[in-house]
Amino acid sequence: MRALSVRRRGDAGELVLGDVPEPLLEDGEILVEAVAVGVCGTDREIVAAGPRRPPEGRDALVVGHESLGRVLEAPATAGVAPGDLVVGIVRRPDPVPCPFCATGRFDLCENGRYTERGILGRDGFASERFRLEPEYAVRVDPALGLAGVLVEPASVVAKAWEQLDHAARRPPRRALVLGAGPIGLLAALLGTQRGLEVHVVDRVAHGPKRRQAEALGAIYHTSTDQLDGVFDAVVECCGALVAEAVARTAPGGAACLVGVGDIRSAGTVDLAALTRDLVSGNKIVMGTVNSNRCHFEAGHDALRRAGAAWAGGLLTGQVGLEAWSGAFASDPGGIKSVIRIGS
Ligand code: BGC
Repeated sequence: MRALSVRRRGDAGELVLGDVPEPLLEDGEILVEAVAVGVCGTDREIVAAGPRRPPEGRDALVVGHESLGRVLEAPATAGVAPGDLVVGIVRRPDPVPCPFCATGRFDLCENGRYTERGILGRDGFASERFRLEPEYAVRVDPALGLAGVLVEPASVVAKAWEQLDHAARRPPRRALVLGAGPIGLLAALLGTQRGLEVHVVDRVAHGPKRRQAEALGAIYHTSTDQLDGVFDAVVECCGALVAEAVARTAPGGAACLVGVGDIRSAGTVDLAALTRDLVSGNKIVMGTVNSNRCHFEAGHDALRRAGAAWAGGLLTGQVGLEAWSGAFASDPGGIKSVIRIGS
């Protein structure tokens, strides 16, 4: 079968479309025919630099962690049946569990020996067929269609909001989302679904980013200078506006960092002033990465409530498997690029 694999060549990564063996039963009892994979910043990093950790004994890693596929074969007890659309959970716990992995919270693993499909030590989903263990397969409402490929990024955002819900100690009314990429717009979606007044900031003035934000009823700005006042919950999705995120957090409010941008673009942070601001404002700042099954389910619910028309509006770039390189090209005005693998 065909798959997109990355290997290291010197200091860089090299991504090729080529033949790989069929997936092994040890990857899971559910056999899935891939429909599409989404491409995100993590994929771009892996492709630029080569795999962080290829599967044991190999030098190439099949990429793709934002999946959507159709079940071909599944045991009767799997919870999904042939024909169902499914998405695969990304992370697998450490074989020697840390205290978090031991209680099922592998998304919080603290010793870094977990694996992640398409990212760390385990093949991803950018192959014509892949396998999933029943406990890592999430059924997708067929009404979502291709937009089901957004369940994984929506799960990351659902975890961020879960943490914000716990952290903010004032009844939330206003939320700020910095960055209107897929994560930012999904964060805005979950904010508006909580009944909040959501403000979104992105440099791109016109096009699908603004359209998708405004379709949610969010207020779109092209600079943080256009913002008024402070926000009960802030979601930083670009990695470059951390100081701004803290400054814009209301006293007793919380900011969640989801983006990992180039630290150089974050500018100089005056740590003493930042500390004073955090302490005197009783503010909480937290980071989040990865997601567990409950977050995949929450992300799926949020997309269903939004509807396929809004969710599909995030898929601004679609290419076939042969034309995969188009999905890695930079497109600052676009939102999410997907590679279509099957029908
Ligand atoms: C994925 C996460 C993953 C992280 C770091 C993100 O793009 O959505 O599931 O944990 O990359 O590897």
